[in-house]
Amino acid sequence: MARIPQDTIDQIRDTADVVEIVSKYVDLKKRGQNFVGLCPFHNDTHPSLYVSPSKQIYKCFSCDAGGNAMTFLMEYEKISFIDAVKQLGERYGIEVKSVGDSGSKEFFTNLYNLHDFACTRYTAHLFSDKGKKTLSYLIERGLDEKIIKKFRLGLAIDKWDDLYKAAKAKGFDKESLDKSGLFTKTDKGIFDRFRNRIMFPVFHQSGKVIAFGGRAIDPNEPAKYINSPDTPLYHKSDVLYGFNTTNAAIRKTDDMVLVEGYMDFLQLYQAGIENIVAVSGTALTTKHINLMRRYIKRVYLAYDGDAAGNRATLRAGYLLLQGGLEPLVVPVPEGIDPDDWIQSKGVDEFKKAVKSALSLIEFQLNVINVNELSGIEQSQFTREVLQNISEIDDGIIRSKLIRTLSEKLQVREEELYKNLEEQSYRRRTTQTAFAPDPSESENQFTSFVQKAQLGLIKIFINGDRPEQQSIRNLVAIDQFTDPFLKRLAEILFPIYDTIDFAAVIDKFEKKSEQELVAKILIEESYEADHEKEMADYIKVLKLAPLKKQINDLRLTIRELERKGEDPADIVLKLSALQKELAGI
Ligand code: CTP
Ligand code: MN
Repeated sequence: MARIPQDTIDQIRDTADVVEIVSKYVDLKKRGQNFVGLCPFHNDTHPSLYVSPSKQIYKCFSCDAGGNAMTFLMEYEKISFIDAVKQLGERYGIEVKSVGDSGSKEFFTNLYNLHDFACTRYTAHLFSDKGKKTLSYLIERGLDEKIIKKFRLGLAIDKWDDLYKAAKAKGFDKESLDKSGLFTKTDKGIFDRFRNRIMFPVFHQSGKVIAFGGRAIDPNEPAKYINSPDTPLYHKSDVLYGFNTTNAAIRKTDDMVLVEGYMDFLQLYQAGIENIVAVSGTALTTKHINLMRRYIKRVYLAYDGDAAGNRATLRAGYLLLQGGLEPLVVPVPEGIDPDDWIQSKGVDEFKKAVKSALSLIEFQLNVINVNELSGIEQSQFTREVLQNISEIDDGIIRSKLIRTLSEKLQVREEELYKNLEEQSYRRRTTQTAFAPDPSESENQFTSFVQKAQLGLIKIFINGDRPEQQSIRNLVAIDQFTDPFLKRLAEILFPIYDTIDFAAVIDKFEKKSEQELVAKILIEESYEADHEKEMADYIKVLKLAPLKKQINDLRLTIRELERKGEDPADIVLKLSALQKELAGI
């Protein structure tokens, strides 16, 4: 990580304004000391993202997101720390000079190279003698050589360690091999994860290979698809298959077709449908939707025409609506997928179906066929739909949906609205994501002693100079028994200046830790009487080790008695400690 000198990083962190950075992406409104807005890191319906201009940090009180301007950029833009620093440097006119190559950059470069190496090898196999059968299988399925090469499809041959041996011979280091997800470790040794499979490389937006999906060649193989696990390069909930190739076309149209499988994608793309991506190997996530929202307004869902496909369509559809995108459903005929469909009927029929795509509610009503439902089932169904609608923020979209629902179900709109209001009321009262809950971070720290430690840290953060000084005087760092809180105290207590909250967050490396620190830092302390509170906490910390000692002694005594030995010495010690305890 030592690529950019620390003082440049510090300078940029001190200059970057978290409110300014966050408001580039989120509509922030002032509330008290803080700004609030809809959190972009989860499916937020009521503003739960808090940004503190004085502390220069942000925190979502619904999901775990939290950090400073830099971590926000990294998370939102999905970029590395280095890139976030560079971007902020550019924005604030601070020159960022890199010094040498860092280990971490090299690590990523190696991982990219290894994936490229694997991809090239798989492709070579496919176009070699060994791949003849597989290649003709793909061609029989309607893909031509051009598309196979463009998307770099390949073949993992039926051998335990073909790639492993080749990669080792090529000189890839152990760490890259370990972390790539391309191999599996067993007690018998290290093997290729993908064997006897058609390989679909998954690309990063930059076009680099970051993962693979492998389709079984043997029809008796139980796992039809195997995918790369999440690795430092690949987080499946952020990647849309094919997007690196199709994003230019997608930008132009402000809508896109979403399919489930690699084959669906390739077939439709080859047939000239260029604004398309696939969510292969995973369900659609809010992260995918956040990515899409930057480019498009409308999504045509063309999932498989079976029960599983229908369920996934509804799930994805409502998630899209809640994320502010309009879902339209292309009804794929029963029992087939888009790939089969255009193979048998040609692409024009698919295009026609896109033109007459259904709204989500229409689709839902078609699938369910409400008229066949009993009265109770109908009302259950209505409640479910309304539940989904209540989670949509946009009032216009909501009223459109209600109108369609009312027409289709033959229920008066007012009736539906009444029901909807009940739904949102219930949600509001159960979710309470409106204001930061001061007891939130206490969830993590449940014991008395942990609470006292957390309390002292909060007083230190929110207190004035004299209060901070008394904490330093009266509390020894070693009294912090919770390792995480101890680390935080070790960082905070030596700070005599104004606390640079954003810098404190950067002292922690793990994302989960940064989030937890942000949570602790942003919470105001609500007790007015710090002095009394502080005294209580200090007492708890003092008592804790004594109590533990007493407990231990009691156990020892019991043990000695059991063995028939004399515990007199220990009993004396115990009563001395008990006296001490009573004196505190
Ligand atoms: N998938 C997966 N893991 C599985 C099954 C499916 O990751 N065990 C993903 C794959 O990305 C696959 C998509 O879900 O492309 C759709 O699955 P499916 O419809 O079963 O496969 P098809 O893409 O239709 O593959 P084919 O046409 O070759 O049978
Ligand atoms: Mn298929």
